[in-house]
Formats: sequence, C-alpha cells, structure tokens
Amino acid sequence: MKTKFFKDTKEDLQRAAEIIASGGLVAFPTETVYGLGADALNPEAVAKVYAAKGRPSDNPMIVHISSKCDLIKLTPRITADMEKLMEAFWPGPMTMIVPRLSVVPDVTTGGLDTVGIRMPDHPAALELIRLSGCPIAAPSANLSGKPSPTTAGHVADDLSGRIDAVVCGEDCQVGIESSVIDVTTDAPMILRPGIITKEDFERALGKPVALDPTLNRRPDTFNNDEFKPKAPGMKYKHYAPKAEMIIFEGAPEAARRAMEAEKTAREDAGQKVCLISFDEGEEVTAAHDFFRRLRESDEAGADVILTMALCEEGVGFSVMNRMLKSAGYNIRKV
Ligand code: TXA
Ligand code: MG
Repeated sequence: MKTKFFKDTKEDLQRAAEIIASGGLVAFPTETVYGLGADALNPEAVAKVYAAKGRPSDNPMIVHISSKCDLIKLTPRITADMEKLMEAFWPGPMTMIVPRLSVVPDVTTGGLDTVGIRMPDHPAALELIRLSGCPIAAPSANLSGKPSPTTAGHVADDLSGRIDAVVCGEDCQVGIESSVIDVTTDAPMILRPGIITKEDFERALGKPVALDPTLNRRPDTFNNDEFKPKAPGMKYKHYAPKAEMIIFEGAPEAARRAMEAEKTAREDAGQKVCLISFDEGEEVTAAHDFFRRLRESDEAGADVILTMALCEEGVGFSVMNRMLKSAGYNIRKV
C-alpha cells in the first residue's frame, strides 16, 4: 500500500476524511501524540488498525469525538462527574472510560462493556472528525511496543506502507498520551497518568480520585497473574527503544555521578552511549521530549541509554510511568 502524505489544509483534511468515511486508516496529529484513526463504528476498519500496528486485540481503542454533544451517542447517560470533567478538560488530553452503547462495536472496545472517549484539543483533529462524520477510533500511531509518535516523521518511520494516509501537522505539544480516568463508578480511578494529574482531577471533581493500584507498584513485585491493570494497554511491554536502557535513581548528585561513571565505562568498552536527562522542575518539558529522545537515541545507534529518574509527583509521575516501561524496569539505585 502506498501511503499518502497530506497537509493539514481544509482540502487535504477533506480527502483524509473521505478515506476514514470509506473504511480506511489515516494517522493525524493531536495535542498529545499522533493517532492512527479509523471509523470507530465500522468493525472492519477498526480491525485494520490492530493489524497495521501489530496490536493485541484485547487492547481497546480510544474513541475521539469533535463535540461534547457526541458523548451521549456512545454512552447511555451523562453523570454529574462526567459533566464536571468535560467542563474542566475537554477539549483536551483526558480520556473518560464510560459504559458503552451497543452502537460501539466489540472490536473497538476489545470486548469490554465500557469505552474510552476523548475530545482532542487540536484544530486539525477536530476538523478531521467533523468532516468524517463519525467518531474516530485512534490508538497512538506507532508500531505496537514502540515509543508513541510526536512528529509526522515518527509516524512515517513506523507505518509508511501500512496505512492509507498521514495528516502531517506540527509536532505534538504535550508529548505523552492522554490521562485515562474511569468514571464508570462513583469512585473515579486514574488508569493511565498524563499531563492532567490526580490533583487536577480531584480539584475538578471536588472529591478524592484513586490511582489504579498497579500504577504504584512495579510488575516484578506482583505474583504471577496478579498484575492486572484496568487499562489492558498498561500491561504490555511498551515504548521500548532498541537500545538497553538504565534509570539511575537516588539523590540527584549521586545519581548523576553514577550515570557519568557508567557512561565512561561503557564508552571505554566501545559502546555508543546516549544520555536522556531532565532538570528538576522540568517535568512538562520531559513529557514533551521523552518519546522523541528515545527515537533519536535509537537513530544515533545507541547501545545503551542512560537516564535519571524524575521526582514522581504531578507530571513527573506520568513521565516516570513511561520511562519505567521503556527501560523494562531496569533501575540502578544509588
Ligand atoms: O493521547 C491519547 O490518548 C492518544 C491520542 C491518539 O488520542 N491515544 C492513545 O491511545 O494513547 P492508545 O490506544 O495508545 O492507548 C489507549 C489506552 C490503552 O492503555 C487502553 O488499554 C486504554 O487506553 N483503554 C481504552 N479503552 C479502555 C477501556 N474501555 N477500559 C480501560 N482502558 C481502556
Ligand atoms: Mg499507545
């Protein structure tokens, strides 16, 4: 298949929308990461998304809408919590898990009776959804297991020849995927942390919000079969660079010294070393840059990527969630 590369002009978005409406696959920019879109209500189209990404079929898609009014077409009723979250965070980097109506096919939700919905804060994404005339199912537009794409170039590297088209826009502003919050019960629970933090959610809802317990513990501290995140996607190996990756964790000065020493030792052994480190207080920049830096390290031919742990508060917690998975939980405590 020859992949078309579109701009984010009105005419090109119209052509992209026609592809979606006729059951094809189009990658497009959002404010978080690029998504790989298909008509969310067309099971054959959604099945093609899993195939193009090499994604396990039990991992549900997020369904993207262009207007808050579209929510009621996909879920039976809008609760007070949903109202508050929509008001505070849509359009924006928040996915709500809600009960689904049967119009949403099984393949879109990986067989679950809930569906993740998001209204992105991105003009080209919103226009594409509107012009397509359907909600758009869109996982991140990377090959399954690879870092999420934050530029059109990343999408092309992973999916050229496997999808119909890419809408090429600017690089993504946020850089990590949306915060996922389950509001199917009265006790909302964060399933995937993002740029919208637990504190932000608690402020908007005026009540405590739980974290999926698997977010606070490392998979290797669970017994077999006990590690069952509520978001199926959170259990898979993810965001992995080709290179080995080590996270240095400890008092900043000591961790930095240990990282430098490792760098010297590896270089003496003839290895190519890439460093990814962010200053304290730079968590939002870390979110923006992290996936791009992983891909750049691979392109530079890194044998090993060395990185410093971030303070696991606020957005730092969300970036660390990605960093730990990228490194396969390879942590060097100093
Ligand atoms: O920012 C984002 O969310 C991007 C852009 C394109 O919108 N999309 C994205 O999709 O990150 P994806 O498929 O890479 O990640 C979706 C996550 C997965 O961990 C999936 O398991 C979870 O959301 N999820 C989706 N529907 C769910 C449901 N009904 N119940 C629990 N988890 C769900
Ligand atoms: Mg993804």
